[in-house]
Amino acid sequence: MKKQIITPTRSITEETEKLLNKQIVMEGKSAAAYLSMASWCETKGYDTSAAFLFKHSDEERMHMLKLIHYVNTAGGHGLQPEITGIKHTFKSLREVFETVLNHEIEVTKSINNIVDHCLAVKDYATFNFLQWYVVEQREEETLARRAVELFNLIGEEGVGLWLIDQEIGKLEAYAERMSGKP
Ligand code: FEO
Repeated sequence: MKKQIITPTRSITEETEKLLNKQIVMEGKSAAAYLSMASWCETKGYDTSAAFLFKHSDEERMHMLKLIHYVNTAGGHGLQPEITGIKHTFKSLREVFETVLNHEIEVTKSINNIVDHCLAVKDYATFNFLQWYVVEQREEETLARRAVELFNLIGEEGVGLWLIDQEIGKLEAYAERMSGKP
């Protein structure tokens, strides 16, 4: 195991800093990808999905900022990520939400990986900080799974797509209910 190098000016190791910066890239890419999806939805008239994804993009930026502040105050340097390779067009609304779900599953794996690392090097402060992301990922995966499920439940024929778009507006309330919040 890599030796922990903690000094009076830093409370995270360089390895932890590197992992958190990788997560910053992931959150930045999420923000950009969801903004792109929102814009595509808006051009297609899926207004509720567009509003949902614009908001979700803002939330991802907040996730990125939260990490940047944490790294900086722990003595490291949170880096603005390079964002390239953003997809601008989609085959369908279903493809948009399937992409969101697959992406969120990858984000959860990445967060879990850093949590594992923190336990291994006994960095309990970063472990504790990351619990917020663990809870958030649970909610985000629930949202995305439900969105994909709507396509199977409602069907895309006739007014189906219009209805699915309407239901996307209720996803946050659904995720809160599922998390047991009153
Ligand atoms: Fe911040 Fe959706 O991961």
